[in-house]
Amino acid sequence: MRMYDIIEKKKHGEELTRDEIFDLINSYTNGKIPDYQMSALLMAIYFKGMSDRETFELTEAMMLSGDTVDLSAFEDRSVDKHSTGGVGDKTTLVVAPLVAASGGIVAKMTGRGLGHTGGTVDKLESFPGFSSSLSPAEFVDQVKRTSIAVIGQSANLAPADKMLYALRDVTATVDSIPLISSSIMSKKLAAGTKSIVLDVKCGRGSFMKTPKEARLLAETMVKIGNAHQRRTAAVITNMDIPLGHAIGNSLEVCEAIEVLRGKGPDDLRTVALTLASIMVSFSCKISREEAEKRVSDALFCGKAFEKFCEWISAQGGDTRYAEDTSLFGAAKHIYDITAEKDGYILSCDAEKIGIAAMILGAGRTSKDAEIDHQAGIILLKKTSDFVKRGDTVARLYTNDENAVNDAKAKVISAIEFTDIEVAKPTLIHEIII
Ligand code: URA
Repeated sequence: MRMYDIIEKKKHGEELTRDEIFDLINSYTNGKIPDYQMSALLMAIYFKGMSDRETFELTEAMMLSGDTVDLSAFEDRSVDKHSTGGVGDKTTLVVAPLVAASGGIVAKMTGRGLGHTGGTVDKLESFPGFSSSLSPAEFVDQVKRTSIAVIGQSANLAPADKMLYALRDVTATVDSIPLISSSIMSKKLAAGTKSIVLDVKCGRGSFMKTPKEARLLAETMVKIGNAHQRRTAAVITNMDIPLGHAIGNSLEVCEAIEVLRGKGPDDLRTVALTLASIMVSFSCKISREEAEKRVSDALFCGKAFEKFCEWISAQGGDTRYAEDTSLFGAAKHIYDITAEKDGYILSCDAEKIGIAAMILGAGRTSKDAEIDHQAGIILLKKTSDFVKRGDTVARLYTNDENAVNDAKAKVISAIEFTDIEVAKPTLIHEIII
């Protein structure tokens, strides 16, 4: 195989063969293809796309580039959930214990935040002592004991994706459906669960800006999962505005705990219940209706919160913080942004809010940057809410006073007002099973 010929072929929109795809992934992972040639190929894929067959084979080649996790101890009961990335997206913190408390088996590998979107591992590390790095044997053992474990991605899981993602990030080739779907699904398939429920975000704060694009991504990933004998479903949810009110690590943990205690914001609860009921129906092999009843009971009778504490404790976290969230403490500097006149919130740009939270210290600007677990934003008002002049719209938290002016300007630019009443945004666009 000559890489030049493969680039030329894709540049003209031709399909690559299975051998070509496997060869190029192996050669790139082994350092035999230089980044400049792979970049050219990625750009050709960006413009010319890939057929379903090519996308499936690319996913398979990336999955097989490293370790695969053996979850056969759980037969076909293990289930994972994956979000394509959002702002204020703390659903895993609610969904994972909710599913486990409802009889499901949650064995999840998850990532850290980068850029304007957060990561579950960072949120969980708000708990002093919490460890997200268990050995494969410890991971399986914990799932056997508690029906739940959530760990960081092991270093050798789909290494081809790690290399390709880093390259896509700097060559403007991230937002391509075959490339996103193969990237996500190669990791999910390698992580070994028998069922996968995807939360495909749609809107300003996500890669897919419209429901149509999000549907295409969701359908592609569901097809890939099913082709690999994994029961796969996708829920397309709104990411024009952040989910819930809290953005930033310990702030989001507190909000997730509120929901687990039967309170908290409606949008977060609705998305969590929807995802959890599909996961429980897959893991426990029961109907969606029965699963909906189980997860709702587990949430409102307190079993999900108990399971949350058991999980945090099993991974070394200090559960006194779950019982009393004031222990997380508040950041040193707190600033309010207020409405200048009466009116309605027209929009609340999730991407800009995510960037503002990152500036305050809640997110990483580079892979190895430190984060401030207390930093972030509480949105007291969101799209369609009525505000009176002087009402607090957003509250900013940081331990870095120098960050405040930039973050404030970003939040102000994210929120638009109008005199006219605004309809509530659609929360769940579609479910694809
Ligand atoms: N998340 C991933 O893991 N990969 C992508 O390509 C996009 C989002």
